[in-house]
Parts: sequence; C-alpha cells; structure tokens
Amino acid sequence: MPLTLSSLLPHLIYSFTSESELVAAIEELSDKFTRNRDRITDYLREPRLVAAYTAFYSLTNIPKLREVLRWMPQTWVEELKHSTLIDLGAGPGTFSLAWRREGANGPVYQVEQSPLMRQQAAKIWSAFGEGQLFQGQRWEWSVENPKFLLFGHSANEMDVATAIRYIDVIDPDHVLFIEPGTKEFFAKMIELRAYLLGAGHRVLFPCPLPSACPMQVSEDWCHQFIHVRQDPEVERLTQLARKDRKLLPLTVQAFSRTFSTDNPRERVVRVHPETKFGHEWDVCHDNQLQRYQLLKRDLSKLESKALVELRSGAAVVTEIIKETEQYTRVKLTKSDKL
Ligand SMILES: C[S@@+](CC[C@H](N)C(=O)[O-])C[C@H]1O[C@@H](n2cnc3c(N)ncnc32)[C@H](O)[C@@H]1O
Repeated sequence: MPLTLSSLLPHLIYSFTSESELVAAIEELSDKFTRNRDRITDYLREPRLVAAYTAFYSLTNIPKLREVLRWMPQTWVEELKHSTLIDLGAGPGTFSLAWRREGANGPVYQVEQSPLMRQQAAKIWSAFGEGQLFQGQRWEWSVENPKFLLFGHSANEMDVATAIRYIDVIDPDHVLFIEPGTKEFFAKMIELRAYLLGAGHRVLFPCPLPSACPMQVSEDWCHQFIHVRQDPEVERLTQLARKDRKLLPLTVQAFSRTFSTDNPRERVVRVHPETKFGHEWDVCHDNQLQRYQLLKRDLSKLESKALVELRSGAAVVTEIIKETEQYTRVKLTKSDKL
C-alpha cells in the first residue's frame, strides 16, 4: 500500500478528529524536541503524541533517508540492503519502513524502549511493512547475517555509555547515524566515532581519514544539510505546523568494519554566505580544516548557479590556484552538485 498521510491516518494508535488537532500535536512535539529537552521523553507516554510523531516522521523520513543514502558509497548501500537491519530506538519504525522503500530485503529488527512506540510500530508495519518484524525492548537475538545498525534520531536521546553498550552487545558490521545537526549532539558523536574506530570500524562518511576530527577542537561542529522534497499533503502539514522540512540540518556518520573504499579527500563542512565575488566554504581536506574561496570569475554561469545549491556534506575535488594566510583559492574540478 502506498504510504501517504491519508493512508497512514487509520493506522495510528490515536484518532485525530481534525487536521488542526494533528497540527497542534506536531507543534507540541516540535517544542519538546527543541525547547524542552530536559523533558524530551514525555511524548513517549502519550498516544496522541506518539501518533502525531508517526504521522509526521514516517513520511518525512522517507525522502530524508533517500538523500542520506545518496552520500554513501553505492556499493556499500547495495550490500546493506541484504543485511539484517537493526533499527535502534526505532520509535514507530519510520526508518524501517523507509528502508524497505529503498528496496532493502533483509530481516528487520526494531529495538525500542517505549511500549506505546512498539505498539504503534507493529500497527503500521502490518499495514505498510513487508516480511516479518522482530521487536523488543532491548537487543536479545543472535543473528547470522551481516548486521546493519541504524541510529535514527535516537542516539541523541540516550547517553554515550548506553549507545556504546548497544554497539558492544549487537556487534554490528555496519553502523549509520542519522541524528540532529546540533553542536550538542556532535559532542556525543565524537565519542561514538572514537569508540567505533577503536573497535575496528572504518569511517565511510563524512571524514576523509580515520584520524582525529579537526572540528573536535573548533568552535564549529561537523553537520550536513539536505534538501528534501515532500509530497503535497506533507508539504501542507509542514506549512501549517511551521516546520520547514525542505532544508534539514543533520549529523550523518557511517562506519563499517568489512567494507572499505577510498573516501573523498575534500568535504564541505560549512558554507558561508555568498559574496559579490564568490563562494567561501570551510572544507575538511584530509582531516585539516581549510577556508576555500572560489571566485566567480573562475566559474561558468552554470557552475556559479549550481553552487548556490551546494550545502555542507558535499564532496568536492579542487585544484589549488593560490594559498594565502586566510584562504586557499581553488578551482572546482568536481562536486556532488555539478
Ligand atoms: C526521536 S525517536 C526516533 C524514532 C525513529 N528512529 C525515527 O527516527 O523516527 C527516539 C526513540 O529512541 C528511543 N530510545 C531512546 N533511548 C533508548 C534506549 N536506551 N533504548 C531503546 N530505545 C531508546 C525512544 O524511546 C524513542 O522512541
């Protein structure tokens, strides 16, 4: 069955009597995620908020996952599709459903602490999922296949020690984090990255090298942005709830202990406002931060236009024109956007 807002509503654990009631619940949730972080887990105990979460994120996480996967080595993604997915902190299973929609056909295990979320996940999986769903409150299975562990907006709701305990006990072959693009979460991500590298994983995204992260000691934090296009029903909901879901900040990091590839050596980590003369980016080049400057006069009109769309997270290949104390002036040879 196609997964749309109208097809999803009858499968929620709470029936909204009107669109405005749903919108109000989404706004309430959003407020809990951003402003009231000390009471972040309150929503897990209320059927109305669990249902609102499901209505909104089951739909918005589909294009989000698709965009994230476009950054990954595609041969790795194909390998993952036949692995066992462990959706950790699965909530109502938004990413399990999105993963199936990417053509993944391996078994799906969801680990989720909230009984209401598990109930909601089972309900939408029986309507929109494919194959058997394994659900539990903690990791309690032994699995033969390669294991693909996904943290979807969940590592930020647990402390680092808990996330590490899960990694230890699950012993995954592959790990993907799709988490909020906040400075607060980045501090946790740095610890989790160090742990995974120490446990024999390679970093596949976003770092050029597995050595120390240069942003660990800077004021800035490594995060990315994606553009997502929602379908019209969801677009209407986002506008009513005043949530701009078109340009999303997020923290994405990917690791594997079996897959290896040559990572791109230059990745944009911050895009500065465009100036009259050109574009400026902070770039992680072989794990060193550099301020790149691209002058408009070195770009064709088409390139200049395309670069307006470029966000942090993009891999680029450049040629150095000149190095000054402040900038590395470069010419662009290749980017995800061109
Ligand atoms: C924001 S929701 C994300 C749900 C889903 N992954 C998504 O991205 O839409 C975070 C989920 O993580 C779960 N969670 C937090 N800490 C957990 C833990 N220690 N064990 C299992 N689940 C946990 C919460 O119960 C909640 O359902």
